[in-house]
Amino acid sequence: MAKEFRITLRNAGKIAPDSIDDYLREGGYQALKKARGMDRGKLIDEIEGTGKLRGRGGAGFNTGFKWKAAYETPSDVKYIVCNSDEGEPGTFKDRTIIENDPHTLIEGILIAAYAVGAQECYIYVRGEYTHCIELLRKAVQDAEAKKLTGGVQIHVVGGAGSYVCGEETTLLTSLEGYRGEPRLKPPFPTVAGYLGKPTVVNNVETFATVPVIVDKGAEWFSGIGAKEYPGTKLFSLSGDVKHKGVYELPTDAKLSELINELGGGVTEGHRIKAVQLGGGSCGFLTPDQLDVNLDFESARAIGASLGSGAVLVLDETHNMAEFARGTAHFFAHESCGKCAPCREGTSRLEEIMDDICAGGDLEKDVALIDKLGTLMADSCFCPLGQGASNPIRSAWKLFPEDFKSANAAGKKEA
Ligand SMILES: Cc1cc2nc3c(=O)[nH]c(=O)nc-3n(C[C@H](O)[C@H](O)[C@H](O)COP(=O)(O)O)c2cc1C
Repeated sequence: MAKEFRITLRNAGKIAPDSIDDYLREGGYQALKKARGMDRGKLIDEIEGTGKLRGRGGAGFNTGFKWKAAYETPSDVKYIVCNSDEGEPGTFKDRTIIENDPHTLIEGILIAAYAVGAQECYIYVRGEYTHCIELLRKAVQDAEAKKLTGGVQIHVVGGAGSYVCGEETTLLTSLEGYRGEPRLKPPFPTVAGYLGKPTVVNNVETFATVPVIVDKGAEWFSGIGAKEYPGTKLFSLSGDVKHKGVYELPTDAKLSELINELGGGVTEGHRIKAVQLGGGSCGFLTPDQLDVNLDFESARAIGASLGSGAVLVLDETHNMAEFARGTAHFFAHESCGKCAPCREGTSRLEEIMDDICAGGDLEKDVALIDKLGTLMADSCFCPLGQGASNPIRSAWKLFPEDFKSANAAGKKEA
């Protein structure tokens, strides 16, 4: 694809994912060898300062900064945990990496383990991704057989089937065998993570990008894309576009290029109504906003978020109140129930959206959503509840007519 720039997905389609020999033939595990010959502090500096690699899981935190915190925390035991839970609605890019090139992920994890001094690693994989779990287990066995792991153990664990288990502290709690509920931060996982020990938690895409940075150099990497969010990013493009799929783009590419050029544009005979960028808890963009650059700062400047890189295109046939109602149902279903504002708030949001679509008092209902959303943003324990009202409020703000028509239709039916 002309606009694509493949770094993380460099081997996709070129190698058999279950063949370590194919990966080795393409220069695989050379970066690990190079990293192990480097001073640990220097390696972390490369990732942090020069490469400015930022997490690709949603929050965009500086990866090397995290590694440094774990490296500098004194402890006899340290862990690396790879977040492969991928529960964010509309996100399927981590799965694409694993299905095409599991060894690049293993290599990135082993480089991180060397950097911080960890002897044990976990890959927490979304439970439904059974094929990924099999591929990763084979990849680990093959890397061990070729004596590439250097005694570092990598465990592949199936996830617990809950959206909130993708949140890093919840993931660690789940990995420890408890019910998936978030923990208070600080202490951050880099200080007290898995079993209370310093732990680096990074996303699949983040780890999978590390071998290329080590191989080609951090300066090369930071010369690609946006200055403050360099490199490439994988986007999961879905909804009403001609060519749905995962695309890897330099971070100075535009959202319109992704949708119109790589995605082939909106489905024949339709027009774009809204685009949800970043995932299920993000607001909507309108067609006049699609020239935004695909880096964190540019998205933030227009009040959006890059999140996990989910891009959901919706055409004019969608009623956004009905869509928001579906979102409210999702959050009510996924709330872990640990804190009252989220447990009660997400259920109330769902009830209010049901009421709107059943012909209830629209004015009263939207005022309640606003009040409840603000309260939840201020008082929920973790970002799941804090952001649950975002898409609902955004849909109301941008498409009030849809709420009115869904409400009128509900009245007619009642
Ligand atoms: C509700 C919720 C779900 C999340 N789900 C995921 C996920 O599936 N995968 C992921 O990598 N990060 C997810 N995150 C973000 C993680 O908490 C964390 O920021 C990330 O794993 C850190 O890795 P990174 O720095 O490499 O991005 C989620 C966060 C929240 C609040």
